[in-house]
Amino acid sequence: MESNFTNRDIISITDFTREEILYLCEKGMDMHNLEMHGRRNDLSDKLRTRALSSMFYEPSTRTRTSFNTAARELGMQVDGFSGTEGTAVMKKETIRDTVMMMGANHFDVIAMRHPLDGSLQWAADVADIPVINGGDGKNEHPTQSLLDLLTLYRFNDKKLDGLNIGFGGDLSHGRTIKSLSLALSHFKNITIRWAAEDFLGMPKDLEGLLESRGVKVIREESVRDVMKGIDFYYMTRPQLERMQNVTQGEIMEMMKKYRIDLEKVEGFDVKVMHPLPVNSEIAEIDYLVYFSPVQGFFPQAEFGIFARKALLYEMLKHDEYIQFSGKLADDLEFGNNRLKRATREETKKGMFIDKIIRGTVIDHMGKGTAQMIAADLGLEDKGYDSIPAYLSENDKSFLKTNLRELTERELKKIAKISPDPTISYIEDGKVADKFVYLLCKNDNCVTGVVNEDVPSKFYNDEGTIRCRYCRKPYDITNPKVSDKEREGFISLLPKKIEQIRP
Ligand code: CP
Repeated sequence: MESNFTNRDIISITDFTREEILYLCEKGMDMHNLEMHGRRNDLSDKLRTRALSSMFYEPSTRTRTSFNTAARELGMQVDGFSGTEGTAVMKKETIRDTVMMMGANHFDVIAMRHPLDGSLQWAADVADIPVINGGDGKNEHPTQSLLDLLTLYRFNDKKLDGLNIGFGGDLSHGRTIKSLSLALSHFKNITIRWAAEDFLGMPKDLEGLLESRGVKVIREESVRDVMKGIDFYYMTRPQLERMQNVTQGEIMEMMKKYRIDLEKVEGFDVKVMHPLPVNSEIAEIDYLVYFSPVQGFFPQAEFGIFARKALLYEMLKHDEYIQFSGKLADDLEFGNNRLKRATREETKKGMFIDKIIRGTVIDHMGKGTAQMIAADLGLEDKGYDSIPAYLSENDKSFLKTNLRELTERELKKIAKISPDPTISYIEDGKVADKFVYLLCKNDNCVTGVVNEDVPSKFYNDEGTIRCRYCRKPYDITNPKVSDKEREGFISLLPKKIEQIRP
């Protein structure tokens, strides 16, 4: 297979085919073999004129340093930041503007981590140069999956088919289990066994998806039961930073039965993997395991260099550098999130538009939200009329105002307070335009951060509406939207996420 990674954005492991995963594993093994033969710097003049921007908005030890090491061994220059202190992010600079500065400063590729889901797809949309996702919120961490796959490939006789793997720790709040298991679903005869408390267990939707792709998923009572049928045990850290209303003490209690200690691995010929870091207080892997032959997580971490070195090389080996355009793609100015509604009835009856000759009606909102929206938009302060109302027979709020045309930021604020609002613009006492404004309902999605100005965009994933950025499914809850209108809206959406360049 020839490489098709030239200048490609690396956002989700689910974007890779089986052949591409195997290709990158082979290339990663080439990098591993160079290291084994004392030749780690053999490629050090290959990307001598290229530069990596390392943009880490969130803490990282492994991902950041292994990108840097991989780049250094390919002869690249590396610069960037680790934490936002010392950057203009402290002065409220957006992701868009910060990413643009990397192209403006003649970097060739960006490796970035950010706490918001979907922020890396947004960075990729904005940048002229390719972007690699080093972790976006609780969403994706594709190069972690690549290094996990490479480690499995190496220690499973260069095969991924037929793997028996155990999962433990936190299968619910992290990104590694989801990404790795979905990547493995490309391969034949995969069996996943897992044991964990319900709260930390495998999400039902993930289990269903894996099973629909032919993966056998088996929940076991105990870690020792898992160990009986596997070759690799993939442990993960409880992701406390992504949990709500749970204390570390409660998690430690849940983990008691599931921590990996010598007793649980005794008699088993397994390799214990872990993306790291281990939480030293929870100690999901007991320190004595570190000295046992089952310990596989430090070699696994080194495979991060081989996987990232292979990826950077494949992305940058062919083309000349990309010149900075200084522009954003036109596609990024607006979302594709306005579900058009017919305007007939209102032109006749005018129930919600009476007393408005020119203005806006915001309708089909939750109880009490109309006042909140009027206050949030500062309508009265800006000198506009604001008439909030509640209809108990329909259990809905609505708001009339003589402000005509809401900005995207105003529309987002409304949709965050009350999802799927119907917006009607009134001209000459008639409804001139009417639409339902859709905004991703994932609280941690980059599209919901109003001042980032990320357009609300969706795509049609075989009949499921998904957010372009965090890729979460979108359920339209506005009661007035008919099946026909929903179908009409979906038919206009792109069928997949295409790369956007200016
Ligand atoms: N595995 C991993 O992503 O580690 P860091 O958070 O240290 O990058």
